[in-house]
Amino acid sequence: MTKKIILDLDTGIDDALALAYALGSPELDLIGVTGTYGNVLVDTGVRNALAILELFGRGDIPVFAGPDHARARDSFEVLEISEFIHGTNGVGEAELPEPSATVQDTSAVDFLVESVEAYGDDLVIVPTGPSTTIAAAIEASESFAQRAHIVMMGGALTVPGNVTQFSEANVNQDPEATDLLFRRAADVTMIGLDVTLQTLLTKAETATWRALGTPAGTFLADATDYYIKAYDTTAPHLGGCGLHDPLAVGVAVDPTLVTLLPINMKTDLEGETRGRTIGDETRLNDAVKTTRVAVAVDTDRFLAEFMRRLTSLASA
Ligand code: BDR
Ligand code: CA
Repeated sequence: MTKKIILDLDTGIDDALALAYALGSPELDLIGVTGTYGNVLVDTGVRNALAILELFGRGDIPVFAGPDHARARDSFEVLEISEFIHGTNGVGEAELPEPSATVQDTSAVDFLVESVEAYGDDLVIVPTGPSTTIAAAIEASESFAQRAHIVMMGGALTVPGNVTQFSEANVNQDPEATDLLFRRAADVTMIGLDVTLQTLLTKAETATWRALGTPAGTFLADATDYYIKAYDTTAPHLGGCGLHDPLAVGVAVDPTLVTLLPINMKTDLEGETRGRTIGDETRLNDAVKTTRVAVAVDTDRFLAEFMRRLTSLASA
């Protein structure tokens, strides 16, 4: 039995790795990608997703575009730090041939709402960028809010943020959207920096992909080496790059990779802690917990699964 999955990506290098993880997982049936802004403009992210799907021979998977800026803003510009980490083209200046497929006419929000209507418990949604599109789907449909199973990459509960001391990059882009998600969605699994900064990749692993000599292997190695180099500058103490977005897909396949803490969450919206994801004191004693936060990860098992799936995918 395969599980249907939709990825909501701001494609981005680790988003590209998350996409590859999904394509390399026989347990998953990727029914569509929704593109959001974040690491890149929404158009760049959509273009990258289309091109990567074609590179891996899956140009048949549809890509939809979401809103192009945060709820509380009128527009969006790529942050300098995002360009530094992901490159101006979002994939570390690695070359990706122009895709032949184009973005769907249906909006990302409609596609998400219709997919939850159609597949219910057989579908998991994995957002790995700002929460803007998912928040819009929640507002558009109460049924989506109640029935969608969401495994998101974003936030930090037990460690500091990575954009400000309090805020993680995805939440930082649209704190109001993540707050709405925590308060209104019935089933959220949060894969935050608590665990994603424990899953690190080095050039020793990317050399395996380069040695394959395939276009897909070369692309994965080129993009990820750029990302590792950026991490060497911004977070040299880690000794590798964080596999943020692929870990969320890994957990969608196998939740036993992480230890989950059930807790109702909120996002701070005011003052210096704006963008902080933390337990909601007003819902602390509610019997029903709508969010589960990953607080520990089986690093060795995840890294082994990650390399096995991506290397096999890129060999073809
Ligand atoms: C998250 O921010 C983005 O830069 C990455 O793609 C990831 O989704 C990590 O904080
Ligand atoms: Ca991302």
